[in-house]
Amino acid sequence: MDSSPARSASTRLDSYVDRYAARTAGMTASEIRALFAVASRPEVVSLAGGMPNISGLPMDVVGEALAELLATQGQVALQYGSGQGDPRLREQICDVMRLEGIEAHPDDVVVTVGSQQAVDLVTRIFCDPGDVVICEAPSYVGALGVFKAYQVDVVHAEMDADGLVPDALQQAITATKAAGKRIKFLYTIPNFHNPAGVTLSPARRTEILDICRREDILVLEDNPYGLLGFDGEPMRAMRADEAEGVIYLGSFSKTFAPGFRVGWALAPHAVREKLVLAQESATLCPPSFSQLAISTYLAKHDWQGQIKAFQEMYRERRDAMVASLTDLMPAACSWNVPAGGFYVWLQLPPGIDAKAMLPRAVTARVAYVPGTGFYADGFGSRFMRLSFCYPTPERIREGVHRLAGVLNAEMELRETFGAAATGRELGPRSGYDTPSTDLT
Ligand SMILES: Cc1ncc(COP(=O)(O)O)c(C=O)c1O
Repeated sequence: MDSSPARSASTRLDSYVDRYAARTAGMTASEIRALFAVASRPEVVSLAGGMPNISGLPMDVVGEALAELLATQGQVALQYGSGQGDPRLREQICDVMRLEGIEAHPDDVVVTVGSQQAVDLVTRIFCDPGDVVICEAPSYVGALGVFKAYQVDVVHAEMDADGLVPDALQQAITATKAAGKRIKFLYTIPNFHNPAGVTLSPARRTEILDICRREDILVLEDNPYGLLGFDGEPMRAMRADEAEGVIYLGSFSKTFAPGFRVGWALAPHAVREKLVLAQESATLCPPSFSQLAISTYLAKHDWQGQIKAFQEMYRERRDAMVASLTDLMPAACSWNVPAGGFYVWLQLPPGIDAKAMLPRAVTARVAYVPGTGFYADGFGSRFMRLSFCYPTPERIREGVHRLAGVLNAEMELRETFGAAATGRELGPRSGYDTPSTDLT
């Protein structure tokens, strides 16, 4: 057998493996990505992806805005722009944030390539390898991916029906500091959480800000879903009550369209300067065309009316999801009723492993995201995220029907043959497994 170095390198799957930077070890592909390729087939009801449903967008209006943009400002729209983002769009972003009680100056806004890039830039300017970011348990998989890529240690703090639990946050801070580690910020999604669906109560917002002030911890408030509530006025942002200790992230992905890839960060002045430098080194500038397209849309279109239309559509789908779960799921399951956003977080009966069950669910033509992807520490195997944003109400009901069938069969198997039939026996820390990732 030829075992020369040249040959063994060429037979490796990735012959560059010895050369990558250490940080790439944290950049792992989703273990369940292959299944998602199958899940995107039309016969599968996907309750997995968190894609905004833009079928309600008036494409003719958007098309007209884009044509007008090119006709009147083509030279600017197709040119490089400022690293901080278009000044007029930054003013309009301040109008958007005013809906959540934020009074901000456009100088303190940095436009980013989606709020995903804002998470990346904030992490880049604050975190060294081994630093700690405190995240809710569970947390947004895309942010966990960023933290991993920067070799950040994630410490989770529990949530309940009212969002992040202040005592749990305090405990996480105390334990992390006692272990001699540096906490760089708290990453929180206060509204219609991805994946947990819960919303941080007003009283808790105050409590959490108090804790972070006292402990001198910056808050990264990630709020892509805040305007997609189903009952009444938007919640007051944490940033509305604390300007110095909070970096606020917003996005047009869910309230307009994700394809433009426009989000933003609102940061204290000094941080804003660092963010612009980081933005310039990453992309030179956010895309001019997308920014001006959004700016034109905001100026010329009833964007608040469009958000109302989105709210109605997502509410109808939430109702379909919750009614179907109530009608069809085994009694041993539990879930929350989200007041906005895209997601329901479902807890399975003891001993049922969401990831182990996924191939059987996909075979039964329904897909979901197993809970383990939303934890940095392997917890979550007894949970799944169900997205109601994309399928029609009828398809949601059909999807839940199929899921209930798979789950009932799983429970029956387990009753008849024991744990070996449904994955593996779960120990006292039931719910732990290897983490995996999905995109949104
Ligand atoms: C909580 C959260 N933050 C950030 C993002 C990124 O959104 P975008 O980059 O499209 O603005 C998402 C997308 O699903 C999200 O759910």
